[in-house]
Amino acid sequence: EHILKVDQILSEFRLTKEELKEVMRRMQREMERGLRLETHDQASIKMLPTYVRSTPEGSEVGDFLSLDLGGTNLRVMLVKVGEDQERGWKVETKHHVYSIPEDAMTGTAKMLFDYIAECISDFLDKHNMKHKKLPLGFTFSFPVRHEDIDKGILLNWTKGFKASGAEGNNVVGLLRDAIKRRGDFEMDVVAMVNDTVATMISCYYEDRTCEVGMIVGTGCNACYMEEMRTVELVEGEDGRMCVNTEWGAFGERGELEEFRLEYDRIVDETSTNSGQQLYEKIISGKYMGELVRLVLLKLVNENLLFNGEASDILKTRGSFETRFVSQIESDSGDRKQIYNILTLLGLLPSELDCDIVRLACESVSTRAAHMCGAGLGGIINHMREQRSEEVLKITVGVDGSVYKLHPNFQQKFHAVVRELTPGCNITIIQSEEGSGRGAALISAVACKMACMLS
Ligand code: BG6
Ligand code: GLC
Repeated sequence: EHILKVDQILSEFRLTKEELKEVMRRMQREMERGLRLETHDQASIKMLPTYVRSTPEGSEVGDFLSLDLGGTNLRVMLVKVGEDQERGWKVETKHHVYSIPEDAMTGTAKMLFDYIAECISDFLDKHNMKHKKLPLGFTFSFPVRHEDIDKGILLNWTKGFKASGAEGNNVVGLLRDAIKRRGDFEMDVVAMVNDTVATMISCYYEDRTCEVGMIVGTGCNACYMEEMRTVELVEGEDGRMCVNTEWGAFGERGELEEFRLEYDRIVDETSTNSGQQLYEKIISGKYMGELVRLVLLKLVNENLLFNGEASDILKTRGSFETRFVSQIESDSGDRKQIYNILTLLGLLPSELDCDIVRLACESVSTRAAHMCGAGLGGIINHMREQRSEEVLKITVGVDGSVYKLHPNFQQKFHAVVRELTPGCNITIIQSEEGSGRGAALISAVACKMACMLS
């Protein structure tokens, strides 16, 4: 009876196939509204043109610096783009990870970009490269309205970033200014891309049918190659351009209301961007642990867990980390891992408590995988309709901590995608260091174009 009551509460997280199809249809409709000029401004999904095009102009060879901001960490990387034009061969040579201090994330844009410039400077010092003026590719994983590959304004922060004075400004300009302020090195910022785009490009060099990129990490988003004639925000009809969907914002116009639960509303209300990124808040790692924590508190309140008593730690916002969800679901069955985590949270769980906590984690992560699958289904069906191919053969490049580290997410996600996309032959591959390599490769192409123009 006890477990039945628990199941009743958790059953709210289950989505039927029909419901997932409905989410997919709405996603597709919103994507199409985002692409069209006259509906773009009202669409929740912005469908941002990236100025990354399908027409390969060849690329420069040489050393490129990559900068990656927007995931768990800030990364600086030196990438060699080699001679093998066929495959755009590349080698990552050096790589450094910097954590992002809270005050850089939430202070002023100047503080944030000064910190980034400081990290680049440190990297160059470490590798004795201060004297070189390298081309730099910037992976900036937030919604940007581009005017060109190296120019675009930040529309709004997501994922808990809130440095003031950045929204509405040219991000490449902010970076260039910070580098100038330091004055101890020079850099040629040649391209700025979203992490989904960098991920897609890095996989494209191994698999020429890779025309979709997706991230399920701190945030959740996808991009894909769209026919130029359909990208109404940019002039020109020929070839394809990569569109950054920013699908995390799906739901901002009420499209997800009947699927959102009380936990989702609390997560949203206590976030830095309330009312925004509602689809992302159901799926991504920034919020998954917190969702589980709220479910556990609900079960405690209903006297179904921990003898009806939560610890102070469990009552604290953010105390249940998303990696715990992966670790709990990876438990071999002896409950050791679950027990250890709950003890860390100041609890004294019984065996049944451990099992219930695991069920709560599974409910939240399964819904995330299914919702995410419905989104990708929307993109892929849209592409198939655009290209009117009998069977669409397509590869999707993926990155992000939730996708890579959670033990069951991938398999549940794949199952939904396949079920929702009849007539499509889909391969999903993981990108390794995609953002660094992808940004370098795009920069190499951008440099080539710049040479041709000058
Ligand atoms: C990394 C990419 O591997 O994955 C980043 O280099 C990307 O660009 C990140 O943002 C996403 O994952 P997470 O989990 O770090 O947000
Ligand atoms: C957020 C950002 C988006 C990014 C995604 C994954 O949704 O808005 O630009 O791609 O997180 O990092």
